Amino acid sequence: MISSIQLKSCIFALKLNIVEQFIPDFSIDLKAGDSTWKSPSNIALVKYWGKKGDQLPANPSVSFTLSEATTQTNVKWTPKSGADAKKTFLFEGEENPKFGEKTFRFFEKIKPYAPWLDELDLIIDTNNTFPHSSGIASSASGMSAMAFNVMSMEKQMNPNLTEDYFYQKASFLARIGSGSACRSVYGGLVEWGETPSIQSASDVFGIPYPNPVDPVFQDYQDTILLVDVGQKKVSSTVGHGLLKGHPFGESRYQVAHQNLENLASIFQSGDLDGFIKIVESEALMLHALMMSSQPYFILMKPNTLAIIEKIWTYREETKIPVCFTLDAGANVHMLYPAAFKQNVLEFVNAELVGYCQKKKYLCDSVGSGPQQQ
Ligand code: PMV
Repeated sequence: MISSIQLKSCIFALKLNIVEQFIPDFSIDLKAGDSTWKSPSNIALVKYWGKKGDQLPANPSVSFTLSEATTQTNVKWTPKSGADAKKTFLFEGEENPKFGEKTFRFFEKIKPYAPWLDELDLIIDTNNTFPHSSGIASSASGMSAMAFNVMSMEKQMNPNLTEDYFYQKASFLARIGSGSACRSVYGGLVEWGETPSIQSASDVFGIPYPNPVDPVFQDYQDTILLVDVGQKKVSSTVGHGLLKGHPFGESRYQVAHQNLENLASIFQSGDLDGFIKIVESEALMLHALMMSSQPYFILMKPNTLAIIEKIWTYREETKIPVCFTLDAGANVHMLYPAAFKQNVLEFVNAELVGYCQKKKYLCDSVGSGPQQQ
């Protein structure tokens, strides 16, 4: 019989192995090369809010990968010409050292897993399909696009690596850049974070949601109402940090595990009422955590609440299964089946655009994941 201490140390060794497999054991000899990856943003249904250790999630989360909100990043690499590797960062064709800093910090953090980055001169050229400062998080699409380019470098040196390894390590690296970015690595529904109901789930990378999913969720729509497009007042790094010692932290984590477990039968059967209850409650709980942390803060705006009220009334009157979710900001993501696209867009244009900054909204939907260009 195996004791619980033995079991725990087996699990610990296994986890160590998962991370160790990402440390390269081949000789590093990169030639000049070039790659371009286009990677999407994602919207969480069960939210990641709170971390532990080295950017590991305090609770599991699941998201829809989007299709239209993407970052495209081209990287050109050459063996370094001087003692120090030279790195140039362009955003929308213009040199942008400020945006570059975040990427270079990311390179520092992933050095044990991609030591060749120190040996290369790089020119990085990146573009978003969504307007900059629109309140759409560019870190998920940007970090995942960058992680794929780093993996393309690895593939040049080690062409036999498997597709599973390529994607797993891309997700592992993206996570180190920005937690939620690890979920942008696959299309459809993506899960991240260990939880008893999903055996293959991991804290160190995202996985394609492994259980059956009704076709209604395959082309779900996300209409993003841009309520506030400015710089966020509180960064998500600070927000995650405030979950340490949060009075509701532990119970929140339990609810997240439970919601994920309950979503399994909802995803399988296409139970939209059940879906709405979990998704809206997750969005409000995320903001309730912000409002009850110390220091507390509010990221919703009066127009966020006005839109939520309107969605509830519309749903009640029309029985159209449209719901909302929020990320760490004031914008409202309206989620609904593709069959109701026309009705919902008529509703948006008639009743909701007035609450959006400059009457702007973006139409997105569930997408198939990153693509090499
Ligand atoms: O990946 P981060 O550190 O930007 O955190 C994202 C947090 C939320 O968007 C609020 C929730 C989520 O799971 O994406």
